[in-house]
Amino acid sequence: MLTLMLAAAIAASSPVLRPDNIPEIVSLLTLEEKAAILVGCGSTAFDGIGRNDVGVKGSAGATHAIPRLGIPSIVLADGPAGLRIDPTRPGTDKTFYCTGFPIGTMLASTWNPGLVREAGQAMGNEVLEYGVDVLLGPGVNIHRNPLCGRNFEYYSEDPVLAGETAAAMVDGIESNGVGACVKHFAVNNQELNRLHNDARVSRRALREIYLKVFEIAVRKSQPWTLMTSYNYINGTHASEAPWLLTDILRGDWGFEGTVMTDWGGGYDTAAQIHAGNELIQSGSDARYNALISAVKEGRLSMADVDRSVTRALELIVKCPAYRGYKHSDAPDLEAHAAVCRKVADEGVVLLKNEGALPFGPSGTTALLGVTSYAFIAGGTGSGDVHRPYVVDLQQGLADEGFTLEGGLDQFYTAYMQDERWRCAMVDGKNSWVIDRERPIEVVPVDLIRAAAESADRAVVTFGRVFGEGKDRDLYHSYLLQDRELQLLRETSQAFRSRGKKVTVILNIGGVVEVDSWKDLADAIIICWQPGEEGGHTVASVLSGEVNPSGRLPMTISRRYEDEPSASNFPLIYADKPFNYSFYRRLEGNKKDYTVKDIDYTDYEEDIWVGYRYFCTKAPRRVAYPFGYGLSYTSFKWKNMKVEEAEGGWKVRVDVTNTGKRAGKDVVELYVSAPGKDMEKPARELKAFAKTPELQPGETCTVEMTLAESDLASWSEASGAWVTEKGRYRLIAARNAADRGLRRKIRI
Ligand code: BGC
Repeated sequence: MLTLMLAAAIAASSPVLRPDNIPEIVSLLTLEEKAAILVGCGSTAFDGIGRNDVGVKGSAGATHAIPRLGIPSIVLADGPAGLRIDPTRPGTDKTFYCTGFPIGTMLASTWNPGLVREAGQAMGNEVLEYGVDVLLGPGVNIHRNPLCGRNFEYYSEDPVLAGETAAAMVDGIESNGVGACVKHFAVNNQELNRLHNDARVSRRALREIYLKVFEIAVRKSQPWTLMTSYNYINGTHASEAPWLLTDILRGDWGFEGTVMTDWGGGYDTAAQIHAGNELIQSGSDARYNALISAVKEGRLSMADVDRSVTRALELIVKCPAYRGYKHSDAPDLEAHAAVCRKVADEGVVLLKNEGALPFGPSGTTALLGVTSYAFIAGGTGSGDVHRPYVVDLQQGLADEGFTLEGGLDQFYTAYMQDERWRCAMVDGKNSWVIDRERPIEVVPVDLIRAAAESADRAVVTFGRVFGEGKDRDLYHSYLLQDRELQLLRETSQAFRSRGKKVTVILNIGGVVEVDSWKDLADAIIICWQPGEEGGHTVASVLSGEVNPSGRLPMTISRRYEDEPSASNFPLIYADKPFNYSFYRRLEGNKKDYTVKDIDYTDYEEDIWVGYRYFCTKAPRRVAYPFGYGLSYTSFKWKNMKVEEAEGGWKVRVDVTNTGKRAGKDVVELYVSAPGKDMEKPARELKAFAKTPELQPGETCTVEMTLAESDLASWSEASGAWVTEKGRYRLIAARNAADRGLRRKIRI
């Protein structure tokens, strides 16, 4: 009784959390309460301490509330292509679907940060209206190797394109008064053994490539939160590395937000808190106890704990949960579907077009490939979204008024009914679906030959889906499979021998090999995984209603073996099925260094990632260069002007639409350094600009800025950014392999 009265008296006199009394609140928290704030709710409750069941169903995690001091729980949910929560809840017929936006790679393919911001704004609104506080995205890791299973969530092989896209996404999400979480910091470039792989990488490659993308995002958008990665970097776990989280992130870049671990990531809770990793997610009793014991045993200082709690509270006071926001559970999904479509329309990349496109809805189209009838909206794992629907190409074409060739249409409709059922049966058995079962490709030879007589053209779609927890298999994911090749050969032979064109649509989350079969098609389009409105987007591109303006955010090399990291990346073969036991676990605190590319991965290619390598060392090994993409119209560039401006230069180029259709163009600004003091890539992207839609004959001037600091390279010798003196060439180009317009500047 006495205890109860005492507790009531304390509660009555306790202050409640406010943005301006955080130090006082920290001083009033017990060690147990501090640990409860820092260690997330996880899947098990901590008896008695601020446990709440507020979390939104299907969200990823939450922090504990401390009601006596007015500290609410905040809810964290994935992810990069839209909010991921459960679409249904027990006891209600109401649904909680979220818009399935285009995957990260497609957002970057727009080369239009303004548009990416719009997508972020719509995503953030769903976060707010469904009662979530922080969205666990964007994912910004560099596309080091095309087989990384999570590349679809990520943006690009280039840190400037990825960093600018990330900053726009963060701004868009956070314009709603909810948090974004830039992940996975850092060097998280493979899924195999992702919890324990040690990425061994030079300081220069870290600074110029793998950290640069985070640096740009942090400096430009100051995100509320950042998520550390699962892997080790040069022997230290990313979440336990003070040099990364304190010296570089906060010291060099001025990050003011809160850092959280990836789910269950890292080993030593005390080391994580000490390093500057505030929130331990998703949390467990073991982590909570470990934190308390570390303080009691003197292995973790109270100063470290208080600093972390302060940063956690600084995040909490910004969140909707703290503001007491009354969410509606009813965001405007229709309006957001329109945003999804608009963004996807600009991310489509036209790789090849020899008089095939656009073809408009007149005539009859033979639609082939199982993926045309089962479009892939996004990838798997935490980057997936429970979207209300997916428009496939069959539907999209019908909605645009196209007539489909009847024989094939009937055949596929029946075949797909069975295949859908089979896939649902297989997927139903997996709780965490990494490999989503796909319909088996089929080659209806007689129907193809008949269709070549009656139809006016053929469209063949190939699809790839993959995701978190597993890298891609070279033979079955990167290369076209035998049946796919057979389908393409039959179609190409039947249609082209009659003078009819064949278009291939690639509905993929990452690069596939194109070089060996591209001559079998008259046109090739990459529509990536375009979100829920995909079929409409592709139909609009085929009809010409949308003029493609996407550009590749990565290089497509001729063969996998040509990739600069090919000899330092784990190869997975489907005939030796992936097995989780292949993950090599820590024994105690011991890190194993036995198996190359699994226990550790040597980044031997150093800074020579993507086009930096191909442009400088292997220009002929490229099928389609970084930054590449065609249009249905043509553009002429002139008057490249470089003018000195505060701390750098302004670069302007006049772009004129010289063709017959309205369209958008992208100007990519590369810099070629003198490269005398240290080896430099032949060119590096420093800025880019997308034009507004230009009508035929219309001209606009795009302007890009370049800071002198953008020219610096990381010197291993001096451990600092160094700008070489001499003459630099500025190149305004259409892609990394285009000669472009050139001007010189002198430092
Ligand atoms: C992923 C993160 C994700 C988290 C929560 C982890 O497995 O690596 O990207 O945000 O789960 O779902």
